[in-house]
Amino acid sequence: MALTQAGTTSGDGWSSRTAFILAAVGAAVGLGNIWRFPTLAGENGGGAFILVYIGFVILLGLPLVLSEILLGRAGGEDAIGSVRNVAAHSKRSEAWKGIGALQITAGFLILSFYSVVAGWVINYVFASGGDFLGALFSGEPFAGAFAGESQEEITGRMGELFANPALLIGLHAVFMAATVWIVASGVGDGIEKAAKWLMPAFFVLLVIVTLYGAIVTDEFGDAVAFMFTPDFSALNPTALNEALGQALFSLSLAAGGLLTYGAYVSRDVNLAPTATMIAFADTGVAMLAGLMIFPIVFSVGLDPAAGPALIFQSLPIAFNQMPAGSLIGFVFFTLIFFAALTSSISLLEGPTAWVIDRFRFRRPVAAILVGGVAFAIGVVCALGYNVLSEVRPLGFWDIFADSDILDTLDGFTGKIMLPLGAFLVAVFVGWFADRRLVQQQTGLSGGMFMLWRFLVAFVCPIAVGLVLLFGLFPGLITPAAAG
Ligand code: TRP
Repeated sequence: MALTQAGTTSGDGWSSRTAFILAAVGAAVGLGNIWRFPTLAGENGGGAFILVYIGFVILLGLPLVLSEILLGRAGGEDAIGSVRNVAAHSKRSEAWKGIGALQITAGFLILSFYSVVAGWVINYVFASGGDFLGALFSGEPFAGAFAGESQEEITGRMGELFANPALLIGLHAVFMAATVWIVASGVGDGIEKAAKWLMPAFFVLLVIVTLYGAIVTDEFGDAVAFMFTPDFSALNPTALNEALGQALFSLSLAAGGLLTYGAYVSRDVNLAPTATMIAFADTGVAMLAGLMIFPIVFSVGLDPAAGPALIFQSLPIAFNQMPAGSLIGFVFFTLIFFAALTSSISLLEGPTAWVIDRFRFRRPVAAILVGGVAFAIGVVCALGYNVLSEVRPLGFWDIFADSDILDTLDGFTGKIMLPLGAFLVAVFVGWFADRRLVQQQTGLSGGMFMLWRFLVAFVCPIAVGLVLLFGLFPGLITPAAAG
């Protein structure tokens, strides 16, 4: 079959290369960068984890970003249709479209718990916003956050939120509704417009809070040392698996987002430099987020390994003790909210595009339908913090034994589905897709193309495959760790 101009069913597309880059960076930059990355880096001892992470981004993430965007653009449909089209063009089995199905499922599952976490962020936007307004009206605009509250009261906020299913679900509903509304508005009028406003605002706020931490605290140097002095004894198979899962998650790989966004890119865009920009912007933001968060955490003697509560409990305590903390706290949570929204729309767009292409539903109907089902799954995740707090969905499996519902979904997608999806993309693009089509799509030639193809065909499958294997069976490398 001949592959012609991107012919998405919606007929919609990006208005320019810049618009695509903004949307793709918007998809990449999200809770993954500001919540998940610092949390994992903190838990895994900083330096070595971050070094491995950067290595994974360059050697695996970057080539895969290009692979997925090119598959999407060459296939010109939703994630499943695109892979099917490229497979047909390459005279390969139609079964390869399973890559698209796996990815869309992963994106859909991620969306459902992502929206719950984004709901926590909304809670903190309101709490810190109210706090800042209070400070403003009492004539103390530069007060610390939650002035007069004890540390217990500040950290207690998270517990109160978790104990309140109605509030958790309500906030999750608000976030999902916002996501559905943008996606229902279309690629150009919804997704592109949201990215065009939210991403620049995000960058400005990120720089403000990072500069604030660098100026107000004395711990910027400590944070740099923590992040960039590797201690390789902190690395183990689980950490490697987490670093890879995080690299894939953060770059929005293997969850249908880039395959789908790729289909809206016009033929004249040169993909290799575009993919490079996306990967660098995303990684740059993750590093900045670390440099924003760790100095603030260190300055008040808090533990960088606090886990998922790092930004919701530790940071508010820090903001409490810092000048203008109430303002900065509000700015900080607003920034995370913007980042989360531009990511969730891409998570929703993947399955929505498939429903549009497959069932010929109108875009708003498809978006509401997909968002509705994802919302329902998210409700179960939210209940996992209160009514269903005893439930361990995959408790029989050692690597998920301690994981509540949301953690299980996060771990299952991040540790298994994303590596598997990335592995299959690498094998397909590296070995089975028509070579001429692929090369022409990358826009690369000569040595650069050979280098890229070497990474996709050999390095990615082997590295991703090994990390997946050892992540699932930690006992394979270090028998002692298995017990
Ligand atoms: N990259 C986003 C973040 O870091 C979340 C994400 C994961 C995502 N997989 C995705 C977004 C797939 C879009 C598509 O927060």
